[in-house]
Amino acid sequence: MTSEITKAAVIGAGTMGSGIALVLAQAEIEVNLVDTEQKYLDSGRERIDKFLESSIKRERITEEKAREIKTLINPMLDLSKAVKGIHIVIEAIVEDTNMKKNLFKELDELCESEVVFASNTSAISITELASVTKRKEKFIGMHFFNPPFLMKLVEIISGEHSEEKYIEQIKSLCVKLGKIPIPSKEAPGFIVNRLLWQFLNEAYRLVESGIAETKHIDEAIKLGLNHPMGPFELSDYIGLDVLLQIGEYISEKLGEEYTPASLLRSMVKDGKLGKKTGKGFYEY
Ligand code: NAI
Repeated sequence: MTSEITKAAVIGAGTMGSGIALVLAQAEIEVNLVDTEQKYLDSGRERIDKFLESSIKRERITEEKAREIKTLINPMLDLSKAVKGIHIVIEAIVEDTNMKKNLFKELDELCESEVVFASNTSAISITELASVTKRKEKFIGMHFFNPPFLMKLVEIISGEHSEEKYIEQIKSLCVKLGKIPIPSKEAPGFIVNRLLWQFLNEAYRLVESGIAETKHIDEAIKLGLNHPMGPFELSDYIGLDVLLQIGEYISEKLGEEYTPASLLRSMVKDGKLGKKTGKGFYEY
């Protein structure tokens, strides 16, 4: 890999992938943004446009700069074309170990050997994802937070075989993107989601056992802990399906005390996934 990253592929144009593509383009890095269907690319593009329009309105950027940023993002369906000439892949597809492994296996065959692989996984082992590739030393966790264009933190997760020079390269990229990289060894949920999961899951249990209502818990946490959002507002914002996948993964690895509350399971089963579906703990 060249030390200067000027071209990237982001795989998955959902909530996180579209945001990460925008952050890269803002730092003048060309991005091929890939998804499986045109409709997902279109909604990713809409999210990017919406953020740029609001930045223009707030006079944070000029219209010309917004146009420049947009031209650096190339939405694509063809993975083999998307990886041509890139320095790094950032994967942001659904939080499913097998789907991610299948994708990385394919990417490993398609990409030049110098290309570094980064995954935005919220909880899955980097060593396990890297195991399907022949570039385990160039495989790093790069965990952005939602929304990537506003949140400063990126957790940098090293797998068992990640080499220091690539970890440093990813850290430097984060700094170039205006982010603050915080290192963590791999462990289910890393730093933030390990702590967050216990907090949110306990909030679901409080509701299940009739101790307090959703809106009262949110109010209490905002007033008592100075959090900008209560646990239910935050859950709706992140996506209840994403949280259930995180919780299931953490509980499978760390034990029963982390088992997702049945309230969360039943909401996901009913398709109440939060803001993205218009219904979660609240209606939108
Ligand atoms: P999302 O569901 O909004 O987007 C995932 C996208 O990946 C979808 O558009 C889907 O069509 C696409 N996709 C699935 N398989 C694909 C494939 N093989 N090739 C190309 N595209 C494919 O999910 P979201 O929320 O953006 O999460 C993505 C990743 O980021 C997950 O690993 C998640 O755990 C992680 N993450 C999520 C955060 C959140 O707050 N939602 C925060 C930080 C990380």
